Amino acid sequence: MLQGLVIRELGEGDLDAVYTIEVESYPRPWTRNFFRLMAHTSRDLFLVALVDDEIVGYTVGEVDTRSNGRKLGHIMNIAVRKPHRNLGVGTALLDELERRFREAETVASFLEVRESNLAAQRLYAGRGYRLLKNAAGYYGDEDGYVMSKRLNKTNV
Ligand SMILES: CC(C)(COP(=O)(O)OP(=O)(O)OC[C@H]1O[C@@H](n2cnc3c(N)ncnc32)[C@H](O)[C@@H]1OP(=O)(O)O)[C@@H](O)C(=O)NCCC(=O)NCCS
Repeated sequence: MLQGLVIRELGEGDLDAVYTIEVESYPRPWTRNFFRLMAHTSRDLFLVALVDDEIVGYTVGEVDTRSNGRKLGHIMNIAVRKPHRNLGVGTALLDELERRFREAETVASFLEVRESNLAAQRLYAGRGYRLLKNAAGYYGDEDGYVMSKRLNKTNV
C-alpha cells in the first residue's frame, strides 16, 4: 500500500482535481454537472484518495433498491491518476466503497466495464468480482461486461 494514502469523502473544492483525472482517464468523460449531481445524491459514496494532500483518485457509488427490496451497490466510476496507477490506490478505494455498501446493507456489488479494459477487469477479479453477464453495446462504441460480487458480513 502506498505510504500516506488517505481515503475520505469528497470535500468542498475537490471537484476540479477529480474532473482532471476523469478527463485523463476516459474517452467519454462524465460532465462536471454529472459529478455535481453525484456529489449531491451520493454524498457518502463519493470518495477520494489522497497522497500528501493531493487527490490521486476517486470512486463514485450508489445504492440501487430493487422491486423485491434487495439493495445492491453499484460502482459507477473509479479512476486513478496515471502516475499513481498500479500502486494499490484503486484497490483501497474499492475496499472502502464496499465497506460503505455493507453498512448500507447491500447484498451484492456490481459494475460495468469495457471489454478492452483489462487493467480494471484484473482489479475487480482480484477483489472477488466475477462475470455476471455480457452487456452488448453498453458503451456505444464497445461491448462491456457486468461483474458482480456478493457482499456479506463474512467476506470482509
Ligand atoms: C482501473 C484503475 C482504477 C485501477 O487502479 P489502480 O490504482 O491502478 O489499481 P491497483 O493498483 O489497486 O491494482 C489492482 C490490480 O489491478 C491490476 N492492474 C492495475 N493496473 C494494471 C495494468 N496497467 N495492467 C494490468 N493489470 C493492472 C493488477 O492485477 C492489480 O493487482 P496486483 O497489484 O495485485 O497485481 C486504473 O487503471 C484507472 O484509473 N484506469 C482508468 C479508468 C478506468 O478504466 N476505470 C475503470 C472503469 S470500469
